[in-house]
Amino acid sequence: MINKHLPNTEFKTRVRDDTLEGDNPFTWETKTVTDYFENTTSVLFSLPGAFTPTCSTFQLPDFERLYDRFVENGITNIYCISVNDAFVMNKWGQDQGVKNVKLIPDGCGSFTRRMGMLVAKDNLGFGYRSWRYAAVVDNMKVTHWFEEPGILDNCEDDPYGETSPQNILSALK
Ligand code: BEZ
Repeated sequence: MINKHLPNTEFKTRVRDDTLEGDNPFTWETKTVTDYFENTTSVLFSLPGAFTPTCSTFQLPDFERLYDRFVENGITNIYCISVNDAFVMNKWGQDQGVKNVKLIPDGCGSFTRRMGMLVAKDNLGFGYRSWRYAAVVDNMKVTHWFEEPGILDNCEDDPYGETSPQNILSALK
């Protein structure tokens, strides 16, 4: 994976538009991988689902909390990707109160599939989701790669350790 260029897929996001009236002033905006990763040094981490326990209790809040440490180590943005739609990802971000980590909805899994990280989670009624991985991405190119061991369809558990922010920070030092 090191030196791989990220595939330039599209993401269907929902963004606030204050010119709209009503209780739900949001509109669709298509963003590309280039929009997020070109000319930046970013951390990308991907997880199996918004609102799931490990992701909500440890993974996302720990990246959020350690954001300044990443900045001290040359990172400008932290992106969290999940195979969930924009409505779910926005609500999860709101629920978690994230300010530093930017959430990217890979609703139909196109990016995750091109990264080779799409796995079946039919055993949990989830359909296709992301295996946990993380990367440091410098101007669209992967410079560091972290992946939980044992990538597998319908895995009994979802390991979490290699892709923790603490582990990535120690590799950046
Ligand atoms: C989690 O705890 O993060 C988790 C639980 C079930 C499926 C995927 C992830």
